[in-house]
Amino acid sequence: MSRFVLITPNADFDSRLRQAVTGGLQGDVQTFLTNLLPAGPYDLFAQLNQNQPEVLILGPDVPIDEALRLATVLDVQVPDLTVLLVSEPDPELILQAMRAGVRDILSPSADPAQMRVLLERACQSFASRHRLEQPQQAHSSKGRVIGVFSPKGGVGKTTIATNLAIGLGKVAPMSVVLVDLDLQFGDVASGLYLSPEHTVTDAVSPAASQDTLVLKAFLTVHPSSIYALCAPDNPVDADHIAPEQVTRLLEQLAEEFQYVVVDTAPGLPEIGLAAMEACTDVVWVSAMDIPSVRGLRSGLNILRQLNILPEGKHVVLNMADAKCGLSVQDIESTIGAPVDVSVPRSRAVAFSTNRGVPVLQEAKRDPAVKGLNQLVERFSPHDQAKGQRRSHRRVVV
Ligand SMILES: Nc1ncnc2c1ncn2[C@@H]1O[C@H](COP(=O)(O)OP(=O)(O)O)[C@@H](O)[C@H]1O
Ligand SMILES: [Mg+2]
Repeated sequence: MSRFVLITPNADFDSRLRQAVTGGLQGDVQTFLTNLLPAGPYDLFAQLNQNQPEVLILGPDVPIDEALRLATVLDVQVPDLTVLLVSEPDPELILQAMRAGVRDILSPSADPAQMRVLLERACQSFASRHRLEQPQQAHSSKGRVIGVFSPKGGVGKTTIATNLAIGLGKVAPMSVVLVDLDLQFGDVASGLYLSPEHTVTDAVSPAASQDTLVLKAFLTVHPSSIYALCAPDNPVDADHIAPEQVTRLLEQLAEEFQYVVVDTAPGLPEIGLAAMEACTDVVWVSAMDIPSVRGLRSGLNILRQLNILPEGKHVVLNMADAKCGLSVQDIESTIGAPVDVSVPRSRAVAFSTNRGVPVLQEAKRDPAVKGLNQLVERFSPHDQAKGQRRSHRRVVV
């Protein structure tokens, strides 16, 4: 396996770097003799002959702007890869490189001994970042997988899922991923104003299911510091995705992220059931109308019979309206479970869907924001105890 990856058209530098490695470091070097840089982690990993290098060396003689741009993308998407830049170190460049997450700058004329010192330091940095990540994972073992479900469409699943992910992103930046498993007609991309390059189709491909680093390269970063994995553009592509692939996808994401929020299609299709089995928590959404409440009751009954109800259960009453002829008590007795959070009908929410900016992304004062924040609090680590106590309290609209 190559521990070091070098991209440069400069064969002389390549040979010095190889001497540096063979003269005292473990692992070997894979070189791309070109000045063309990959567009991002996916292009890079597609060309590599192994899973994960430790150190990427950019240059000499690659366009410096592109090198810095690539370093920035890698810093966000593959944070444990150490990036070195080969260039004469002038102060302005050092600052730019630092901002781009470059670990060190290597002189183009460095001799093998000098290079070895820097490479060794880069490997130590990789090892310590890796160690930092490992115990965390061992500790909490896996992230929470929160699925948002309802038997009926149009009750606000996508609205709740996007806002929940954004709210959790404030508590745990870059540790939340929102997955759109409404594979045919998913609208997470439009709800978050994203034009994703990759979708669930790529994320369940063999390359990604075997290597979580490749999978991470398929996620789209949202400005609110969360990741999103959107549904395929073409509804036909959804037919090629099998439930087992969804199970594997959620398992991989739960190993990487503190929170995996899953938006789903209405009803209980096979993909939804596979997702539910991978969930630690289910958020049930019902609107305040008879069909939606009855749908939820039948759905819950079927799942109880199948015995696949995850432990964490959270009932959200959306578009709540005290004057609709139904009371919260009526609803609770119909579904046989307490309502945990109530989100009133709000014009700001309807407007936010059309703008592609969820209400929790902006600091809006709105009654729906209050309800959505209560839902977020049920999962946030500081409020865990509070949230659990609250789960037994009835919500009054
Ligand atoms: N609390 C609310 N108040 C007003 N409109 C809402 C509310 N929740 C959802 N909506 C609107 O209802 C529509 C359907 O919501 P959506 O989240 O797409 O439902 P689903 O994903 O269950 O099909 C959207 O236009 C959304 O803006
Ligand atoms: Mg939806």
